[in-house]
Amino acid sequence: MSYNLLKGKKGIIFGALDERSIAWITALRCHEEGAQIVLTNAPVAMRMGEINKLAEKVNAPVIPCDVTSDEDMQNLVAQSMEHFGGGFDFVLHSVGMSLNMRKGKSYTDLNYGFNQKTLDISATSLHRLLATCWKNDALNEWGSVVALTYIAAQRVFPDYSEMADAKSLLESIARSFGYHYALKKKVRVNTVSQSPTRTTAGSGVKGFDGFITYAEKMSPLGNADAAACADYVASLFSDLTRYVTMQNLYHDGGFSMTGVTQSVIEQMEK
Ligand SMILES: NC(=O)c1ccc[n+]([C@@H]2O[C@H](COP(=O)([O-])OP(=O)(O)OC[C@H]3O[C@@H](n4cnc5c(N)ncnc54)[C@H](O)[C@@H]3O)[C@@H](O)[C@H]2O)c1
Repeated sequence: MSYNLLKGKKGIIFGALDERSIAWITALRCHEEGAQIVLTNAPVAMRMGEINKLAEKVNAPVIPCDVTSDEDMQNLVAQSMEHFGGGFDFVLHSVGMSLNMRKGKSYTDLNYGFNQKTLDISATSLHRLLATCWKNDALNEWGSVVALTYIAAQRVFPDYSEMADAKSLLESIARSFGYHYALKKKVRVNTVSQSPTRTTAGSGVKGFDGFITYAEKMSPLGNADAAACADYVASLFSDLTRYVTMQNLYHDGGFSMTGVTQSVIEQMEK
């Protein structure tokens, strides 16, 4: 059901890899709510071609951008402004990758070259995005930027490895830049801390099946799925949430506030 929440709004969505991606589902939701969209992903991810199917559905151009490249980011922002005929109102940062996890390196034996890259892709890229928008005066007044994160930034989930550190940095950048952008242009910047979700990035975490079932049992409302995340993000892009900024917002069915549940106790007593 559409509420026309984003009628007249324009925005960029990063990170739609395939139809399971949170960004993919959010793009469909924002389109349904009346937004005009630009899609972007890393050139290497775009070669898979899936994103073109989404582009057709939401009537959006696809502009490649490796988030670790200043030049790509500048090009993306400039081309988006050209496409929209001026500034835009929202951005979804839905980007994450751990090189050490991918190469099977454990947290106690990190390769620091890989680690630099992980932090650059998964966290510093939010700064690069915001700084590029700032320099080009690309975000309209009361604009909204959301980045996706995970509770491993606050509590230890051992298999999340270096991504926990990346998410801590990401959340800190949202707070710090959120301060400056609020003063400059009333732009708000938040992170949404999402339940474990079955996607390409999610399934890259070791022991993901056990992990997602545990989270389900530990969440009074159950795990929030990607469609529910898309609803929440659309509300954060809308004018109904204009005074929410510099926050890390849990979208997790109550997981973050739960010590134990009846379901977990029953499991332990088996
Ligand atoms: N799936 C989960 O369980 C879960 C839970 C909480 C938060 N998140 C976060 O949600 C976001 C989206 O992940 P997802 O689960 O939809 O998985 P996904 O694999 O569909 O999305 C990750 C995206 O990052 C992109 N990316 C990687 N390197 C890039 C680069 N250099 N430049 C540009 N883009 C690049 C990938 O191409 C991909 O589209 C991530 O930040 C992830 O950490 C996921």
